[in-house]
Amino acid sequence: MAKKLDLERILKNQGFGARKLCRIMIINEEITVNGEICDDPSAEFDLENLHFTVKGEPWQYRENSYLMMHKPGNYECSHKTQHHPTIYSLLPHPLVERGVQCIGRLDEDTTGLILISDDGQFIHRMSSPKHKVPKVYEVTCKHPVSDEQIAHILQGVQLVDEDAPIAALACERITENIIHMTLAEGKYHQVKRMVAAISNRVEGLKRIQIGELKLPEDLKVGEWRWLTTDDMLKLNAN
Ligand code: URA
Repeated sequence: MAKKLDLERILKNQGFGARKLCRIMIINEEITVNGEICDDPSAEFDLENLHFTVKGEPWQYRENSYLMMHKPGNYECSHKTQHHPTIYSLLPHPLVERGVQCIGRLDEDTTGLILISDDGQFIHRMSSPKHKVPKVYEVTCKHPVSDEQIAHILQGVQLVDEDAPIAALACERITENIIHMTLAEGKYHQVKRMVAAISNRVEGLKRIQIGELKLPEDLKVGEWRWLTTDDMLKLNAN
């Protein structure tokens, strides 16, 4: 049977504030549902395909949020930042209110693909070391990357504080100084530490793929979008 919920609860669940505030917005005729003003907080609606507007802003009901962002440099992946703005400031406020979290943090100077969700199971599946979801990084190195250095990264490099050497799943030279490195883990500063271990240095770092999902070319730096069914399939492929 189709799931129904009253408008006040729908707005609260979607991140539009406490129930009291949602009730006031409804009574003030600031909400339309499926194209018509609704001023009754207890009016019930079928959640499937539910479209509403809040103060003119269109919104679609979503039980959980699954999105991707093209993270800009000089942004931190934390809710409480210290030196830079947070990536969450680039999202609509209701999503932040719903408690979305990024899945695996990128360093403040790293750019590229980052997933964001409020579904705990999805976050766990995508970030758990057990599932080993591969991530591809485009790494710009200070010095030209030699065949020996690539071989070393593929064989495994010993990082301080790690019990055993860590190898990249793949490492491909794109230009003299740029490589694409695929990692199964997401250890602290892993790419930078692995590149340092081969006596080179990371000058620029961008994540370009997670699982089978590539950073879309048309997703500009700082932009985000909902994950499509096709995107989700690419992520679940592992
Ligand atoms: N490895 C790093 O060194 N930094 C990142 O942000 C991601 C992977």
